[in-house]
Amino acid sequence: MIVVGSCVPSAIYVKKKVAACHNVGISSTVHEIDKIATTQELIDKITTLNQDDQVHGILVQLPLPDHINRDAVLQHIAPCKDVDGLTVYNLGHIMTDTSGIKPCTPQGCLQLIHSVIPNLKGLHAVIVGKSTLVGNPIGQLLLHQHATVTYTHSHTKNLKHLTRQADILVVATGVAHLIGEDHIKPGVVIIDVGISRDGKTGKILGDVDFEAVSQKAKAITPVPGGVGPMTVANLLLNTVKCMKIQS
Ligand code: GUN
Repeated sequence: MIVVGSCVPSAIYVKKKVAACHNVGISSTVHEIDKIATTQELIDKITTLNQDDQVHGILVQLPLPDHINRDAVLQHIAPCKDVDGLTVYNLGHIMTDTSGIKPCTPQGCLQLIHSVIPNLKGLHAVIVGKSTLVGNPIGQLLLHQHATVTYTHSHTKNLKHLTRQADILVVATGVAHLIGEDHIKPGVVIIDVGISRDGKTGKILGDVDFEAVSQKAKAITPVPGGVGPMTVANLLLNTVKCMKIQS
């Protein structure tokens, strides 16, 4: 795992990933890189890890500082060691619904959805947020399950009109409590990927107002403790997949 700078949420996530690896017997190393590092220095680090037979998986914790070219860094990870599934090669596999390493969070979201709705055929899935890390790939995964997918994002007009039609609502924006009771229809299954901290109370908040919607929804993931642990579990799964590809 490569961590650049000292972003507090990243440090917490990485600690959880290290502990999870330890629990299942995967050895992990955290490479802490100074925040003033250059894009080239990160690429050099990745090149070294790509060539190291003892390393089966490489993860660059996001976000990276603004001066770093995130794409240039991520695309240097060898696809067979890309445990986060963020290289163009692995994202391409998502487009074509072929085997490959899938990004951990969308994969975890789909598993959570399947645990309450085994058959997604014809259901309307509305995605809020179009990031490469979550929103974009989860829409593709749902499409391959024959759901009807609507992507919405910060430029979408009349968000409520669309979210109210959702049988499945996946929210990944980082905007605390963006989705309230009047954004949903009864019986919807909600996956809340958002995680932010209330500046006043210090409380961890999701993108969905859990208290307001939980009576109306069929199922909803809590924040924290919902999607996060699934992301970590899928990181372990992807690491084993990568190891098998390489052996
Ligand atoms: N930052 C927040 N979530 C993730 C993730 O799933 N992978 C990486 N690399 N960084 C993240």
